[in-house]
Amino acid sequence: MTRNDRANFGSKLGVTLASAGSAVGLGNIWRFPFETGNHGGAAFILIYLVCVLILGIPIMIAEFLIGCHSRANTAGAYQKLAPGTHWRWVGRVGVLTGFLILGYYSVVAGWTLEFIGEAATNSFAGKSAADFITSFNQFTANPWRPVLQLILFLLATHFIIVKGVEKGIEKSAKILMPILFILLIVLAICSVSLPGAGAGVEFLLKPDFSKVDGNVFLGAMGQAFFSLSLGMGCLCTYASYFRNDTNLTRTALNVSAIDTMVAILAGFIIFPAAFSVGIQPDAGPSLLFITTPNVFQQAFGNIPWLAAILSLMFYILLALAALTSTISLHEVVTAYLHEEFNFTRGKAARLVTAGCMFLGILCSLSLGVGKNYTIFGLNLFDLFDFVTAKIMLPVGGFFISIFTGWYLDKKIVWEEISNNGALKAHFYKLLIFILKFIAPIGIGCIFINELGFLK
Ligand code: TRP
Repeated sequence: MTRNDRANFGSKLGVTLASAGSAVGLGNIWRFPFETGNHGGAAFILIYLVCVLILGIPIMIAEFLIGCHSRANTAGAYQKLAPGTHWRWVGRVGVLTGFLILGYYSVVAGWTLEFIGEAATNSFAGKSAADFITSFNQFTANPWRPVLQLILFLLATHFIIVKGVEKGIEKSAKILMPILFILLIVLAICSVSLPGAGAGVEFLLKPDFSKVDGNVFLGAMGQAFFSLSLGMGCLCTYASYFRNDTNLTRTALNVSAIDTMVAILAGFIIFPAAFSVGIQPDAGPSLLFITTPNVFQQAFGNIPWLAAILSLMFYILLALAALTSTISLHEVVTAYLHEEFNFTRGKAARLVTAGCMFLGILCSLSLGVGKNYTIFGLNLFDLFDFVTAKIMLPVGGFFISIFTGWYLDKKIVWEEISNNGALKAHFYKLLIFILKFIAPIGIGCIFINELGFLK
């Protein structure tokens, strides 16, 4: 395919919003709080922010420039920029990573649909914190309902993917992101003003470094990659649809800033509420779903219609945020199959959807009927999460930074960063230095530390 017959995003705002739509999702609102809770709170958040700054932003710029320069799916991109080398494996493994992530991500995305249903039928009314925990556990252990919901969610993703890049991806992101942001601010204010919420705020802001071990570093790094959609060519694929005059550095800074703000806001919704009603912060993947119903019930219990409307809006927007992320994951695999194997986009998309349904069903069942089948002590759902977020994405990021810092012709990097000299590109030298040394060494150290060698 040549540069011109591929689809493009229609506007500059569309570029940022579509990338932010990919980045902002369950990773921020569901995964960030439970990882923060698992790893002791504020200290984790600080390390996370450092990871975003010195790993996330530079690697995002690297992915952007690889995609924007090659105008191809992620595996095709390496083939174009490094023909005949093994670098294409970075793209191929990335495609596999995306496929696996979509497999278990769609399970959680399906849960959001269930919660939309509950909110719409006003089933949260009059329930206590303990009731929410029981009913959530019953729901996820049920062999049918979560499976049905994840199938519905994947079908919705499929539908948008076959409608194509501009109409589907860009339009949905443009409208939904701002509404989501405003609602999150409202909810954070409500949550912080609940009785006893102060302990939650303290958990978020007062670091306790005595709890920091190798796992905290690995968790923070994995979360940074996951939340920013990095390490598997997702933003590289999106960048292949960017217009040539896109300012890659500024887009990366904007996307990272939006993504980080949403995650922090989610923290300010979850922890004050959790501490207020006595939910343990390390409740794991259920944390968001057992905590948020309390926010509405506690803050607006005596204005039931407001509680009902806000909770319905929240879960709808959560589902839509998840949708703009599942679309981006799906797009990576679909674009790969479409361009590398000459399948039509429709056929490629059907294969991806069917494959992800299969993985998703297995992951969903692994939380209920299949919970006794474990690998390394983890059920399938947790195993997928661990292997993709904490291993495959950082390893992908490692190779992306080496590729851009060491292998790629610096003329290409300069051209893309400065848009052929049109932009000043103040950070060019710093970027190259980080991609050459800081990022690969940082990722390497975190892995080595995790294995316990630095004790
Ligand atoms: N970043 C998204 C979220 O926070 C999830 C996601 C979309 C993703 N595309 C990705 C994660 C690519 C890793 C890689 O919900």
